[in-house]
Amino acid sequence: MNLLLMGLPGAGKGTQAEQIIEKYDIPHISTGDMFRAAIKEGTQLGKKAKEYMDAGELVPDEVTIGIVRERLSKEDCTKGFLLDGFPRTTAQAEVLDQILSETGKSIDHVLNINVAPEELMARLTGRRICRDCGSTYHLIFNPTKAEGECDKCSGELYQRADDNEETVGTRLKVNIDQQQPLLDYYREKGNLRDFEGSKPIDKVFQDIEVILNQATYSSKG
Ligand code: AP5
Ligand code: MG
Repeated sequence: MNLLLMGLPGAGKGTQAEQIIEKYDIPHISTGDMFRAAIKEGTQLGKKAKEYMDAGELVPDEVTIGIVRERLSKEDCTKGFLLDGFPRTTAQAEVLDQILSETGKSIDHVLNINVAPEELMARLTGRRICRDCGSTYHLIFNPTKAEGECDKCSGELYQRADDNEETVGTRLKVNIDQQQPLLDYYREKGNLRDFEGSKPIDKVFQDIEVILNQATYSSKG
């Protein structure tokens, strides 16, 4: 199953991805996570991406497309994949179609998580992430059992550098501007599935499961 996850910053892409990849056994490809890993390793890619990410702006298409092209060529993507946060511009969407058509693939479902922008500032400034396993939490909406400690691996929690009010403000604006033409692009293709992302985390996942289970069932004939 080849899937895309779309939604504004904080809509719950990463949170839902954790459950989707576990249940459907496909790799999670998050361009944001890939850039953060490159920043941590101090690579040229990381240095280039950091200045845009810290400002809340999009990393230029030529950089982003290059890393996705390379990642999709890896062996584990033959069984399917879940792209999270890519494409984010129609130019990226067009190149993605081209990359996939070169290998006879296409996108089965575009999962679009809708949340009103006014809910997102609180979600992002309260987000905490495990340094060791990457699990995502929220101080109020999805707290850990022990303060500052991951439920799954007891790792230390941290706050993302771009989860401060000023950068979140820019991220929301930039993504709201880019979102509509991208949604129109996929709506026209007929594979856009909308989800109400203001429901509790598990309810959103149940809604996603309904669509993906239908797809798995029908693909098995
Ligand atoms: P990226 O890492 O993708 O960040 P983003 O798009 O801003 O999205 P987030 O990861 O912040 O939100 P999310 O939807 O994953 O929410 P989460 O599940 O964590 O990208 C970062 C940067 O990289 C970009 O700004 C850009 O610079 C660059 N970049 C990446 N891709 C690019 C591309 N394609 N082109 C160019 N540049 C690119 O949830 C958020 C919080 O809410 C958590 O605390 C969670 O616990 C909580 N929560 C989740 N669901 C619920 C719920 N249902 N109810 C209550 N709380 C919830
Ligand atoms: Mg994310």
